[in-house]
Amino acid sequence: MTLPETKVAAVFQLLENGSKQGYIGEDISQLEHALQAALYATQAQSDNETVLAALLHDIGQFCSAKELQRMLATDNDQGIDVGVVGHEKLGAQYLHKLGFSNKVCELVESHVVAKRYLTATEPGYYAGLSKASKLSLKFQGGPFTPDEARAFEQDPFFQEKVQLRKWDDAAKVVGLETPGLETYRMLAIKHLQART
Ligand SMILES: [Fe+2]
Repeated sequence: MTLPETKVAAVFQLLENGSKQGYIGEDISQLEHALQAALYATQAQSDNETVLAALLHDIGQFCSAKELQRMLATDNDQGIDVGVVGHEKLGAQYLHKLGFSNKVCELVESHVVAKRYLTATEPGYYAGLSKASKLSLKFQGGPFTPDEARAFEQDPFFQEKVQLRKWDDAAKVVGLETPGLETYRMLAIKHLQART
């Protein structure tokens, strides 16, 4: 069985690799984006699962589906779905396989859905989106219908999902000082330890 420390090291290595990877359409790296989102979650006094979800929300973008599949090749019974799947689903599946909680995985998976909710319900939200975000919305299904929006409001993690989306949108500040990645290592290890 893989130790929580080893699993977290693998996930954090992906984030570390993201320091060299630009955030699509923005002037900051993927790692900076993740650290900014985690900082906002911490400042909002969120629970640990929400902070971890903010840090890891784009983990599905850090490496290809093929690489994720290879990393998890030891466990064949429930392989990752490497078909046509969005980065949010890929990230959630990856974290689920590593043993992160349902809440963390659901929040990671939801940040695109929450954008669809906010574009349907919050006046001015669409206008405030970045160019890249507006473009991706089209491929993500567009704004929710009123029925879809109402259904989403019944979700037990509705508040956190909407919050996470807003932190995601705001986590694009060039040059913002944030605590480093190491700040979150023990948090992630303890989270996994508590679940084994
Ligand atoms: Fe993001």
